[in-house]
Amino acid sequence: MKASLKKILPGPVLSLYHFFRDGDLSPVASFLFRREMRLPFLRRLALVGRLYLVSGRISCPHTQGEMLEVIGTLLSLAPENEGVVVEAGCYQGGSTAKLSLAAAQAGRKLVVFDSFQGLPDHHETPAENIFGETVRFLPGEYRAALEDVKANIARFGAPEVCAFRPGWFEETMPAFSEPIALLFLDVDLASSTRTALKHLYPRLVRGGVFFSHDGHVPRVLSVFRDREFWRREVGCPAPRFVGLGRRKLVRAEKTS
Ligand SMILES: C[S@@+](CC[C@H](N)C(=O)[O-])C[C@H]1O[C@@H](n2cnc3c(N)ncnc32)[C@H](O)[C@@H]1O
Repeated sequence: MKASLKKILPGPVLSLYHFFRDGDLSPVASFLFRREMRLPFLRRLALVGRLYLVSGRISCPHTQGEMLEVIGTLLSLAPENEGVVVEAGCYQGGSTAKLSLAAAQAGRKLVVFDSFQGLPDHHETPAENIFGETVRFLPGEYRAALEDVKANIARFGAPEVCAFRPGWFEETMPAFSEPIALLFLDVDLASSTRTALKHLYPRLVRGGVFFSHDGHVPRVLSVFRDREFWRREVGCPAPRFVGLGRRKLVRAEKTS
């Protein structure tokens, strides 16, 4: 659909267009009927509508199914499990708007780390991903200004639960000290994944859940599989991942 048309279509029409365009409706059904989730059915339905509206208005390099999986987990966390939600890598704020809506429902704060200058300089050469496609990430790619992201969240998300930490992860993450209930990384690079895990994973509470949207990138997979890295740099045993080497969105629960 043309960007100009997207701007003028009423929200509900745009949500329905994106809903039917997706084709695979099973993630929506799984979300609506997820047993352990702490949200009444009608509020789940309303939330799904808002997620599709976000996809219609903001450029989103993720699928709705992926975000529904993360959000379903967030809304299933035990309330007695303390902690904020953390997102590292927000681009234009599509995933952030969606996470913020869910965080607001769960009564949790959402902390967002990003350079707001796109990807950093790096030496990670193009490589074949687990689906046999070549992935290449360019410095500066996915650049979006903080004011534009904030404006997107103000229009389509829940800005009252969001706190932004602009800057390179190496500079902004070491000082972070809050307990984390759910950690979502979407940072493309192995170097950024290492930095985020090193500083944030130790803050994940027991029973907390870690997601990465970069499970298709071989270099990132190597980080997840590197037991020495977990032991020496993160200071925690390597968790058991679900979907490793098979899916783009991988997850691990912190059990100890
Ligand atoms: C693929 S985009 C995120 C997409 C977003 N989660 C979504 O679904 O709409 C990757 C983001 O990671 C950020 N990023 C990657 N490495 C970073 C680093 N070392 N420091 C700060 N930001 C970084 C980039 O600025 C970019 O916004």
